[in-house]
Amino acid sequence: MIIFKKASDLSKYLENQIKNEKKVGFVPTMGALHQGHISLILQSSKENDLTVCSIFINPTQFNDKDDFNKYPVTIEDDIHLLELNGCSILFLPDETEIYPPNFIKKNYELGYLEYCLEGIYRPGHYQGVCMVVDSLLSIIQCHNLYLGQKDYQQCKVIGKLIEICKINTRLHITPTVREPNGLAMSSRNRRLSNAEKEHAGLIFSTMLTIKNQLKEGDLSLIQSNASNTLSNEGFMIDYIEITDLNLNQVKSWDGKISLIVLVAVVTNHVRLIDNMIIC
Ligand code: PAF
Repeated sequence: MIIFKKASDLSKYLENQIKNEKKVGFVPTMGALHQGHISLILQSSKENDLTVCSIFINPTQFNDKDDFNKYPVTIEDDIHLLELNGCSILFLPDETEIYPPNFIKKNYELGYLEYCLEGIYRPGHYQGVCMVVDSLLSIIQCHNLYLGQKDYQQCKVIGKLIEICKINTRLHITPTVREPNGLAMSSRNRRLSNAEKEHAGLIFSTMLTIKNQLKEGDLSLIQSNASNTLSNEGFMIDYIEITDLNLNQVKSWDGKISLIVLVAVVTNHVRLIDNMIIC
């Protein structure tokens, strides 16, 4: 695996590779890699000649300084894991490579996607995500971009970014990788004890209950039952919402459109999000 720290070196290298007809896949990350990230690397390696992974803890997407300061950093382990899994290139920039002094801050017109669900609890978060992904995509110019469904709203936002900025890349969303008890893999799980991780499997089983109880008509009862289950088990609930696949809230279901349940809860100061397509 080749490690690049300078954006200009990486761009030059990739330009040459692309001239030689090499297909480039890209997996953006903030490090603290786990099997969820690795599944993206493996899919990209299958579908491209070169796979680039970036590790950059992006300050502009953290609305909470404490969350930024506590974000796990495990760079040696990450490099090892990427090498083991056939990643071709690691981009490891510092802040000035992503946000050089002449960087012009844009405002991305994301509409509703920016203000619903996560947007309510993390104001400014998706502008920061767009800023970094826009910058990374202009450096990397990949044919294919890989993101995990666990951050469903982020996938929708980046889809919108690609559309409004007319970026020439194809977005692939890959299924959430889970622990045996159903807990979605996340870098933030490192801040949970084993007992807390075990307990957090309830998020998955609660979503599964919603899926199993789903029937046409008013959805408020199954939603409030799910909410009671999790709060009785000590989770602080930011939201449990049932929406269509574009994140518009659905209160009463006609039995026809696809639905997704999205959950954000806090347990012992660790905020966990997850989702499940339920029909
Ligand atoms: O999902 C993440 O890890 C980040 O939001 C991303 C896409 C790498 C942008 O910093």
